[in-house]
Amino acid sequence: MSQLFTPITINNVTARNRAWMSPMCQYSASPSGDDLGRPNDWHYVHYASRGWGGVGAIIVESTAVTANGRISPYDLAIHNDDQIPSFTRLAELIVSTGATPGIQLGHAGRKASGPRPWEPEVLHPKDSELGWEPVAPSPIRFSGSYETPHELTEDEILDLIDSFVEAARRAVEAGFEIIELHGAHGYLIHEFLSPLSNKRTDRWGQDRMLFGLEVIKAVRAVVPGVLAIRISATDWCEFVDDSRQGWTVADSVEFIRRAKELGLDFVDVSTGGNIPDIQIPAGPGYQVRFAAQIAETGIPTGSVGLITEATQAEQIVRDSADVAILGRVLLSDPYVTQAWRARLREEPEFAQPYHRQLMRS
Ligand SMILES: Cc1cc2nc3c(=O)[nH]c(=O)nc-3n(C[C@H](O)[C@H](O)[C@H](O)COP(=O)(O)O)c2cc1C
Repeated sequence: MSQLFTPITINNVTARNRAWMSPMCQYSASPSGDDLGRPNDWHYVHYASRGWGGVGAIIVESTAVTANGRISPYDLAIHNDDQIPSFTRLAELIVSTGATPGIQLGHAGRKASGPRPWEPEVLHPKDSELGWEPVAPSPIRFSGSYETPHELTEDEILDLIDSFVEAARRAVEAGFEIIELHGAHGYLIHEFLSPLSNKRTDRWGQDRMLFGLEVIKAVRAVVPGVLAIRISATDWCEFVDDSRQGWTVADSVEFIRRAKELGLDFVDVSTGGNIPDIQIPAGPGYQVRFAAQIAETGIPTGSVGLITEATQAEQIVRDSADVAILGRVLLSDPYVTQAWRARLREEPEFAQPYHRQLMRS
């Protein structure tokens, strides 16, 4: 019997299996007006398809906790109560497929107000129709095409922690059972963690983990289900030179040890994203070893990144992580876990309307 297709319980939430859908921005929400940030037909069909496809849990794409925390003007956002019904529909739809509904809550920090990947030439600088001024721990821009961010004040930092809490409260009210904080890929929480983007001399810089830990502590109080975080385990800049010493795996282990004491339930382990000019040695399962190192703190983990084969995913959940988190492989084939079930000698589990036709040989 495969381990991949065995249910898993974390805190009080049980997912039907350990092949989960990774958060992937669709850049398809309305950028303005009453529908700003709300999921629409694209999102409903996109997520329901992967749910019917058979994944154990779906972590809905990065959803901004404030309007100026959107990665692009077309991101999902959950910064006011009027948006809740649109998210309730999405959570209910995911539940109806048998998958566990999760959502990633994020703030893009200095990487906010960016273009959609398929129209990189359409920039949204702060004085453009859809753009705004990004914020960050320190006024250091991500790269040449990004704005220099406004350096957050103490009061603004405290307000942002409240924004995470309020967004989590709304997501829970909408029915999401896994709340994943986006602490990776060079967005706000990661910007506070990394010495490459946080040069503050106040308490938020003396202890660069403080912002992330305060968010975890405050959000924990409103999340009855799974509280998760995605981290970048490394900036891939550990050995360059002293002047460019980045966030390291050892830092990640310490951060998660501290976060676990505050009640964190799960870590989704990714890497990179905080500096544009680093070569990442990507290859099959290249981030698995980091999940295994984080798992040594005793917290359940998920591994993500180029997991594309059934036997590979099975090996990962047997040896290194609790969950295999799938990204692009699910964009090209929402039903990929059905093929993986067959490969691992499990019965396919198609939805009833497909079952009779597809099970007949
Ligand atoms: C279209 C697209 C959008 C993405 N959006 C997000 C996101 O919203 N949040 C996030 O943490 N990672 C995001 N990612 C990264 C994926 O979640 C995943 O970590 C990455 O694609 C590596 O996994 P894979 O090799 O299985 O695709 C995105 C990736 C893609 C391809």
